[in-house]
Amino acid sequence: MPSPRVHVTRKLPEPVEARLAERFDVVLNSSDAPMSGPALADAMRSADALLTSVNDAIDAGLIGLPDRRVAVIANFGVGVSNIDLDAAHVAGLVVTNTPGVLTDATADLAIALMLAATRRMTEAEAVLRRGEWDGFRPTGFLGSGLQGKLLGIVGMGRIGQATARRAALGFGMRIACYNRSPVGALDFPFEQLPSLDALFGVADVISLHLPGGEANRGLVSAARIASMKPTAYLVNTARGDVLDEMALAAALAGGKIAGAGLDVYAEEPTVPRALLKAPNLTLLPHVGSATLETRTAMGMRAIDNLVAHFAGGPYPSRVV
Ligand code: 8YV
Repeated sequence: MPSPRVHVTRKLPEPVEARLAERFDVVLNSSDAPMSGPALADAMRSADALLTSVNDAIDAGLIGLPDRRVAVIANFGVGVSNIDLDAAHVAGLVVTNTPGVLTDATADLAIALMLAATRRMTEAEAVLRRGEWDGFRPTGFLGSGLQGKLLGIVGMGRIGQATARRAALGFGMRIACYNRSPVGALDFPFEQLPSLDALFGVADVISLHLPGGEANRGLVSAARIASMKPTAYLVNTARGDVLDEMALAAALAGGKIAGAGLDVYAEEPTVPRALLKAPNLTLLPHVGSATLETRTAMGMRAIDNLVAHFAGGPYPSRVV
């Protein structure tokens, strides 16, 4: 029997591409250029499986193609808001993701953004690079310490918990969280608050760890940002669409909150001008899971899901 054809939409770490080539009739993307809608449609018609990443919008139109051959989409990432899951469900299209393997890398980056914001790293480095640093001052670039401060975690799943653990055990922060379902006991103290509004009103730092997509779009609204303490900070390593980006930019520009750190944007790779110009804001280009170890593990998990699919299951991590 011929090997299943797997179309890979973006360049992947070398050991991942090598394993794909051993196991499948693989179409790789050596140029790493993002695929257009028509190119994705061609791949949907010609391959048995797609290995997608966050930029590939797999909408109902692609899923509903009458001559679609693809039967499984292995998404490279834990978030799957780039795929219309309802349409996949209706069409009987299998969707898998890569949870677990990127927890530590993403939690590390959330802490990095927290430190960058509270210690004004981006602003201070910019002054130095412009040649404007005139030497040490006892009152220069004063930031805010994390010790004893309250970290508010929105979405206490794997990555939320890993971020909270680092903050509690590594930095001596107090932890509060908002999560739809009850969170059981963990190896550090935390309090689960009854509502998102309660959390926004009391937290010194808020870190977002909830899925993107329709259900959570705009959850961090202008009103919720306005309810934050003027000394508070906001960090987003989840998905850009959960946040009102314009309201955040206005709050930073108006000194309504103290600072923020973002790794994700609603319309990647576009970053709104208002954010580019906002003060005390660290902006990263979606690098939460960007270590060689993690991206390799994510690729291997995507392959494990594909191997399981063609062997008739069970899948290591199936979403639909
Ligand atoms: C991935 C991510 O690298 O896993 C996720 O949900 O946001 C990132 O860590 C990205 O999705 C690439 O596809």
